[in-house]
Amino acid sequence: MTILGIETSCDETAAAVVTSDPKTKKLSVISSVISSSLPLHATTGGIIPEIAAREQVKYIQPVILRALSILGDNLSTAMSKVDAIAVTYGPGLIGSLLVGVETARTLAFLSQKPIIPVNHLFGHIYANWLKPQRAQGKERSGDEKNKHYALNAKPYTEIHFPVLALVVSGGHTDLVLMKSHEDIKVIGGTRDDAAGEAFDKIGRLLNIPYPAGQMIASLAERGDPKAFILPRPMIGSQDFDFSFSGLKTSVMNLARTQKWNFSDPLYAEKNSQLLSDICASVQYTIINVLTKKTIKAAKTHQVRSIILGGGVAANTMLNLTLKQMIEELLPKTSFFVPEKELCTDNAAMIAAAGFFHDKNVPWQNVTCDPELYYNLT
Ligand code: KG4
Ligand code: ZN
Repeated sequence: MTILGIETSCDETAAAVVTSDPKTKKLSVISSVISSSLPLHATTGGIIPEIAAREQVKYIQPVILRALSILGDNLSTAMSKVDAIAVTYGPGLIGSLLVGVETARTLAFLSQKPIIPVNHLFGHIYANWLKPQRAQGKERSGDEKNKHYALNAKPYTEIHFPVLALVVSGGHTDLVLMKSHEDIKVIGGTRDDAAGEAFDKIGRLLNIPYPAGQMIASLAERGDPKAFILPRPMIGSQDFDFSFSGLKTSVMNLARTQKWNFSDPLYAEKNSQLLSDICASVQYTIINVLTKKTIKAAKTHQVRSIILGGGVAANTMLNLTLKQMIEELLPKTSFFVPEKELCTDNAAMIAAAGFFHDKNVPWQNVTCDPELYYNLT
């Protein structure tokens, strides 16, 4: 089976072709194309929806055609090899979602192929079912990318249920318990800011361009994670919920009382170690909360696998910390994390979710749902 995935929920315009092996059912990414309008938003501290949607209107056709070119020279030849179109229908920005959904509807009408509407959050979860493309990657010291691939440097292994998924993105921090592909329950979530949002908002205070997560992670490498003791609200609570807004407020108060001014290039140059120390402390605090709650939920529900998903899952320190804690505390539990480029928004993960939640919907009935949460049945 071959699925064309389309993802346009935020600033990315993405299309991918994913196939399943007829015998093993393993999923392979045949092509994946991503165009991002991020550079246009870097200085504004967040996505400007109108600009994102306008860029998506420009890029959706070339991106889909490029992804499909692996299947044939022209659209009709390529589409004849596609069995279904999986498209993100929520959550996300309405203007952006409309670009992907309306394009998918047109393509479905023209090619007479069914549409599988996919929840973006399930996409982040199902990125874990995509076969690692570079599983052979050997770790080379100091090489951030290879450190991450080394986590996947093992043969493709089955993900056994029950599964605990930690979905950590710019808008979500959720713990999802999956007893099967059909029995899925949210057991915890953030009460306020998401983990990625905390990275991004704190980045703004430190004059780090949006989205700040990746840069905070690389600055943190030279910093002292214990330089600042920051609040970890709800770390000891009985439930599996999170809260990150207190962390942001605490960094904001520190910035005011200690007169941090990283927007001044001279100050930033003189205080680069201070910046690294702040970044390391922020990253340490976020990872500490995420990993402790995940381990607690995994123990409570006796899961066999823990999987990570979402942009923050690209954080190498989060991966290494969680991997180490699982090995020490839950040695019978397997740990999975998608390849780095499959953690942040992409269309291959949307196609992957389409294989497991293949409710074909006639193109006339597919609509966007910007507020969609987990559409659990
Ligand atoms: O999943 P995603 O690409 O988009 C949403 O669905 O939100 O996640 C984006 C988020 C941003 O908040 C970004 O700062 C964060 O993921 N992020 C990271 C890293 N790479 C991206 N956070 C921490 N460390 C990273 N390496
Ligand atoms: Zn996302």
